[in-house]
Amino acid sequence: MADFTAQLAQRASTINLNAGPSPLPDAALLTAAASLLSYSETPGMGIAEISHRSPAFDHVVANANDDLRTLLEIPANYKVLWMQGGGLTQFAATVLNLSAWYRIKHQLQPSDEVEGWYAVTGSWSKKAAEEGARMGVAARKVFDGKKHGAGGKFTSIAPADEWDVPQLEEKSRRPAFVYYCDNETVDGVEFGGVDSETAFPFDKFDPAVPVVADMSSNFLSRPVDVSKYGIIYAGAQKNLGPAGVTLVIVREDLLVDLDEAVQYGGTRVPSMLSYKNMADTNSMYNTPPTFTIYVCSLVLRSLLASPPLPLPSPTSRPLAPLSSFADQKSSLVYSELDSSEGFYAGTADKAVRSRMNVTFRLKGGEALEKAFVKEASERGIKGVNGHRSVGGIRTSIYNAVTLEHVKTLVAFMREFREKHSQA
Ligand SMILES: Cc1ncc(COP(=O)(O)O)c(C=O)c1O
Repeated sequence: MADFTAQLAQRASTINLNAGPSPLPDAALLTAAASLLSYSETPGMGIAEISHRSPAFDHVVANANDDLRTLLEIPANYKVLWMQGGGLTQFAATVLNLSAWYRIKHQLQPSDEVEGWYAVTGSWSKKAAEEGARMGVAARKVFDGKKHGAGGKFTSIAPADEWDVPQLEEKSRRPAFVYYCDNETVDGVEFGGVDSETAFPFDKFDPAVPVVADMSSNFLSRPVDVSKYGIIYAGAQKNLGPAGVTLVIVREDLLVDLDEAVQYGGTRVPSMLSYKNMADTNSMYNTPPTFTIYVCSLVLRSLLASPPLPLPSPTSRPLAPLSSFADQKSSLVYSELDSSEGFYAGTADKAVRSRMNVTFRLKGGEALEKAFVKEASERGIKGVNGHRSVGGIRTSIYNAVTLEHVKTLVAFMREFREKHSQA
């Protein structure tokens, strides 16, 4: 019988900075491991071996939903859906559901076009806009970070006054939605949180137009005003749990029967992509990834049971400690970049740099970056290479990365700089 002593020791000597899938809390993983053999509510049967329609699994989903609603203070008029197919599937699903909603709402003619507006601030929102166009919406970029950023790269977000947001006549129906990505995992560019000057500029848009946000890589890292959104979604595999499930939070009035939209020029959409189907069946339209959802439920419970920092006041929002924690950790790495006299150069503009994915280059070039990744790995610091599309270094500092881990990373960065500046 495994007692996990060796595995826990290996984990203790490893700093996992992968961008996703990424580290999860030990306590959640240990409970999950034991529950694979025998789950507390179904002794003798593991959590992955019971029906998704059993009372025991109903409890898992109900608890996960309750905890998520508590943590994110989700208003009652929003549904929580557990879907499959990752973030990429949501690039299409958001468009298909909202186009149908819009066609029904405005009783469009089949020849009428539907517009989707995209704020493109990095690789993922760019890809989402391309998928939106593939799904048949006229995808309009209201901001294009590539045109704004230094060297034609996604490095910054212009103030909203500089965005290309069309002024609409009062009764105009356009667009069906406005889409953005809250944290660009590849490029290390993040919008600010609630009330911050760099928060997404909701007031630039007609409040009747639903805002869609991809929060895959900063989900559960800070408070969110859910009531401002039509749809929020997040692939689980960063702060929430293992890959295999995507969390969707959708405002109830946006749920429509996709088949009804066909008479208004909508297309047939796979039933599995219908938010209404998922909401009507409590995410059990087919067999969901039960084990993945179970691990997510444990992670959610651990965030409530043992937050990394105390709540600053009894009235503070539940995710405030995780937000301070993320600020504290990422600012240690950014301070090292900023005090390195150019040895390390952060790729993102200071005003919008990500607290989750710290991206930087080494002045010494690609060969030195390779040496950095190799020497970090020898020290047990794993997963620091940049995304294959952009290169460089990326240290991803999600919730399960501890302050001690980050201090060790920064000490390594300093040592590496001292060693290689002299060379
Ligand atoms: C912000 C963001 N959106 C979307 C995706 C794509 O997610 P998936 O691989 O689950 O389709 C990722 C993946 O890392 C991401 O970081």
